[in-house]
Amino acid sequence: MADKIKKISVLFSGRGSNLEKLIERFHEKSFAGTETRVFPITNRPEANGINVAREHGIESIVIDHRKFKSREEFDRELVKVLKNINPDLVVMAGFMRIVTPIFTSNIDAINLHPSLLPLFKGANAIEESFKSGMKVGGVTVHRVDATLDGGKILAQECVKIEPCDTLESFTRKIREKEHYLLPKTVMELLGLKE
Ligand code: GAR
Repeated sequence: MADKIKKISVLFSGRGSNLEKLIERFHEKSFAGTETRVFPITNRPEANGINVAREHGIESIVIDHRKFKSREEFDRELVKVLKNINPDLVVMAGFMRIVTPIFTSNIDAINLHPSLLPLFKGANAIEESFKSGMKVGGVTVHRVDATLDGGKILAQECVKIEPCDTLESFTRKIREKEHYLLPKTVMELLGLKE
């Protein structure tokens, strides 16, 4: 029997490749007496991440944002669902929603972003970073606060933009870096040891 169970809620909206990495690393895994579990939540009933989680035997909670009159009402429901799970960590991994103070004043969460924040905030970070003329892009994990992609930076790594890179090859390198950095940061934040 594990001494303690640590719960990780993962919020996602689309493909779910980062969700998958978190599931592979943390769902029903044991770290020196601590067991970890992943609880996926999405705002989109059509999100591919739902299938990804299902392939790993996990049903996602779906809270369709289109059924709510306002961002605040959606966030109120999301907060209720999260409080019910009572996770040790809430991770936004491709969760394409702007959250309101209803969320940020109730839930401590971290977010994954595909740029070297504070550069290239928002939804098109990879393309904007690739087209910027900079020689590096990167990946950031930061705390979620009331500002867009503006909370305290927890982890950050560079990805080189080589002359031979295309947007596609750069995107692949960003994804690889994300798949490494996010689980590593979750390990550290939860104090898990192999
Ligand atoms: C990731 O690249 C993540 O950094 C980005 O969405 C992608 C989700 O991919 N998030 C943002 O741009 C947030 N502003 P995934 O669904 O395959 O994990």
